[in-house]
Amino acid sequence: MTHIISIVNQKGGVGKTTTAVNLCAFLGKKRKKVLMIDLDPQGNATSGLGIDKGNIENTIYDVLVNEVPMSEVACESAAKNVDICPTNINLAGAEVELVSAMSREQILKNAIAEVEENYDYIIIDCPPSLGLLTINALTAANGVIVPIQGEYYALEGLTQLIDTINIVKKKLNPKIGILGVVLTMFDRRTQLTRQVKDEVDKYFGEKVFKTFIPRNVRLAEAPSHGLPICEYDEKSKGAKAYEALTKEVINRTK
Ligand SMILES: Nc1ncnc2c1ncn2[C@@H]1O[C@H](COP(=O)(O)OP(=O)(O)O)[C@@H](O)[C@H]1O
Ligand SMILES: [Mg+2]
Repeated sequence: MTHIISIVNQKGGVGKTTTAVNLCAFLGKKRKKVLMIDLDPQGNATSGLGIDKGNIENTIYDVLVNEVPMSEVACESAAKNVDICPTNINLAGAEVELVSAMSREQILKNAIAEVEENYDYIIIDCPPSLGLLTINALTAANGVIVPIQGEYYALEGLTQLIDTINIVKKKLNPKIGILGVVLTMFDRRTQLTRQVKDEVDKYFGEKVFKTFIPRNVRLAEAPSHGLPICEYDEKSKGAKAYEALTKEVINRTK
């Protein structure tokens, strides 16, 4: 069975892309066959995995809008065993262009069906909104990972996110559920982040991963080299954390 996991939070800057890229890379290192789908028009996962955005022929936009098969768009990334279906800013138009399309919420799911059996994991990096692209990601996935940043307004908007997942579950995809919640950019020492952790624990209980991702400058530097953290600085705290998170993800998807 292929595990299809969407990384979702409608807030920007909470660590979705960093989590998506490094989860893919560590899954690949553990000999899983992985496909990353970059569904954010900003394309940070695309460049973070070593693909030059200015130099790609077909993107996920062509899959969604022009019916180009996913197998023709997916290419090898800088991470071992990880293919990527890249994106660029064209995708920003898709949200509008797809509004009148047939079964517009299921386009990604149908496109994935063609390549699904080639992969153990398909990870979808979502844009910072709950629009049609994210709905497509939720319709295609069987699990969601929600990164939450350890900061004051961390829980704001989460009710809306949960409501959206529940609507998709009811109307489009009964298989969808939260696989886990991960605290990112977490500084254990401050009282504020401890408060956030308590609140997140209260809200999500067992869903919260034991691993939290510390604030670590190496994680922020790695994308500018087009490398996941395990290639950029394997010994960093950030690498250790994402490796531990990946183990938890594998355990939860056994
Ligand atoms: N654990 C971390 N430590 C330090 N910087 C981080 C960490 N996680 C993410 N960042 C940085 O924070 C910014 C936002 O992260 P990103 O993963 O792009 O969030 P999102 O995809 O949710 O918008 C990026 O510049 C990224 O490099
Ligand atoms: Mg992002």
